[in-house]
Amino acid sequence: MQSRHLIDLSDLCVNEWENITRLACDIRANIDSYYGACRGKILATLFYEPSTRTQMSFQTAMLRLGGRIIGFDNPSNSSVAKGESLKDTVRVVSGYSDIIAMRHPVSGSAMAASLYSRVPIINAGDGGHLHPTQTLTDLVTLRNEKGSFSGLCIGLCGDLKNGRTVHSLIKAMSGFPDNRFVLISTPSLAVPLYIKDYLSAAGTPWHEVSNLADAMPLLDVLYMTRIQKERFASEAEYINQRGVFVLDSDKMAMAKKDLIVLHPLPRVDEITVEVDDDKRAKYFEQTEYGLYARMALIMKMLEDSSKQLPTPPPGVQTQCSNPNCITRIEPYVPHIFRKSGDILVCSYCEERTLLD
Ligand code: NCD
Repeated sequence: MQSRHLIDLSDLCVNEWENITRLACDIRANIDSYYGACRGKILATLFYEPSTRTQMSFQTAMLRLGGRIIGFDNPSNSSVAKGESLKDTVRVVSGYSDIIAMRHPVSGSAMAASLYSRVPIINAGDGGHLHPTQTLTDLVTLRNEKGSFSGLCIGLCGDLKNGRTVHSLIKAMSGFPDNRFVLISTPSLAVPLYIKDYLSAAGTPWHEVSNLADAMPLLDVLYMTRIQKERFASEAEYINQRGVFVLDSDKMAMAKKDLIVLHPLPRVDEITVEVDDDKRAKYFEQTEYGLYARMALIMKMLEDSSKQLPTPPPGVQTQCSNPNCITRIEPYVPHIFRKSGDILVCSYCEERTLLD
């Protein structure tokens, strides 16, 4: 049996997410009783991109479960700096560890890594694509702070194009009944087409707006995000987009009494510091829920893991149209698509490529 990976939350069924969030709540209440649950196991954290919360919460999670950690937080301190491929790094590290959490700047890198790993790969963020463990964190936060995953009007604001936390959250929350989305961004930072396709297929209502103040009274949850500077082609393009949406006390005054404000953090300038004192601001609590979510996830994923090396599937000739797809960066990765009408959807980054 090959290892199970967490590349996208759809790798787990809704029942499994619910079990993980329930386990996370129990861990929160009885954290000491989980010490030893992963004794003898090793987590490798391969962080090719900067991180504070995700990396440290993964490491803390494993240490609190009684396991150990190895890894790098800067690829320039590893053989990546000598030109080692993702495939080789992953194959080697999967021989040293029992589970790998990986963050990488290229979309689809987590799925590519899973083709060469003997142990479960957890996607801790692949470029501007997905960030499923942030979404598990968000689900644990919603369970505790809202008491439900359903019937919510969810506003997502900021960089909806490059914000991987947004993409994973939309995918997850459209799996629960009676949710709807208000997508608040400038036209150039709107959600990618594949996310709109996803919403349409799920039948989840959504609309796009460009004014945060107008949306405030409608929302049960407001998910703020920073403009993802590192994903812009130039500084000028970033400067053009930054500072457009700022949540402040005046806007909070327009919102429902039971709104909750979330943010995956780091915050730059999109939430003023005075909002931190509003009891509806839950983003610091959210970071703590992330620890319990990751403890629960590590436990579940180690339950059914094996150490078998997978055989990568054969690929096709067609190239993905996304220049930031892992198949364009690491040439040995097999090109894999799924067909949807007259378009091909890349299995790594989900971008569309027209059939010739
Ligand atoms: C997010 C990320 O890395 O995508 N941060 C996180 O994991 N908590 C959000 C961001 O960097 O803006």
